[in-house]
Amino acid sequence: TGVPASDAAEHEGDIRRVGVVGCGLMGAGIAEVCARAGLDVVVHEVGEEAAGAGLARITASLDRGVRRGKLAAVDREAALGHVRVTSDLAELSDRDLVVEAATEDEGVKVELFAELDRIVEREDALLASNTSSLPIMKLGAATRRPRQVIGVHFFNPVPVLDLVEIVPSLLTSPETQARAEGFVTHVLGKKVIRAQDRAGFVVNALLVPYLLSAIRMLESGFASAEDIDTGMVLGCAHPMGPLSLADLIGLDTLTAIAEAMYADFKDPLYAPPPLLLRMVEAGLLGRKSGRGFHDFS
Ligand code: CAA
Repeated sequence: TGVPASDAAEHEGDIRRVGVVGCGLMGAGIAEVCARAGLDVVVHEVGEEAAGAGLARITASLDRGVRRGKLAAVDREAALGHVRVTSDLAELSDRDLVVEAATEDEGVKVELFAELDRIVEREDALLASNTSSLPIMKLGAATRRPRQVIGVHFFNPVPVLDLVEIVPSLLTSPETQARAEGFVTHVLGKKVIRAQDRAGFVVNALLVPYLLSAIRMLESGFASAEDIDTGMVLGCAHPMGPLSLADLIGLDTLTAIAEAMYADFKDPLYAPPPLLLRMVEAGLLGRKSGRGFHDFS
């Protein structure tokens, strides 16, 4: 049903300083789209090396945007001028909105929300999580301000895909939801859909069983990886096949999402197949490690 125009206008200028926690695939993309929208962005990564790699990831994506004619060179410079990467979480203290995009691990995220609650000074700052599958309520409960904690779930590649899932917990206030939706719609220019606080929300609840089925199909020797992917690209006009998409998401992340969904629903539909587990144990994580179901070296 969307946010009433009057509410959107009211909240549009409310969020100027954004913090992003984590500068992996998702965090870098979120930081990039916020910087491209002219917002002041501080991104946190654990340690100097990861912070440097995160900035390189943002720069590479902006360069790709320029090469593809989506971004003027001057706007690339402007966007880079809006982003600062830090290894000190305390530098997020003055933010209006923090989007947590750390690794998909409940313990890590709960600890981060407790820490952000201590650090972020503005009382009505929004504390958002990009989690794909963990309960927003658990993250809210780790803070003294669960009314301002909300799921804001982007899709990879963030600069390319126009969807964001908005996920309020049982305690998230309607004002928080309206501010988050206004921001995503009017500042970032992305389309919002709403979902309840259950593992997988809308998109992953449909996508993950499909990806796991493709992995089981490969595991059983039913068809080759190439043929499974070609089948869905040419047979259903998907932009990429399920095994290529699993490689894009990252097999460790996919496993974490599947495990969280399995924990929530206790349905074998979501159980990660042994082949996926073995590949993660082997460090074959997909694109980011150079090899997954396909070879990227
Ligand atoms: N900035 C802006 N635009 C960019 C860009 C960038 N950094 N990089 C690429 N683009 C644009 C390109 O210009 C191109 O646009 P046009 O079609 O208008 O020319 C478009 O994005 C596609 O880019 P490419 O042609 O370079 O790449 P491709 O054709 O190989 O497509 C892909 C790559 C975008 C990844 C495409 O295959 C795709 O959309 N795949 C599906 C991805 C998907 O399903 N993601 C969801 C994953 S699930 C998730 O994220 C949630 C979760 O919780 C796990």
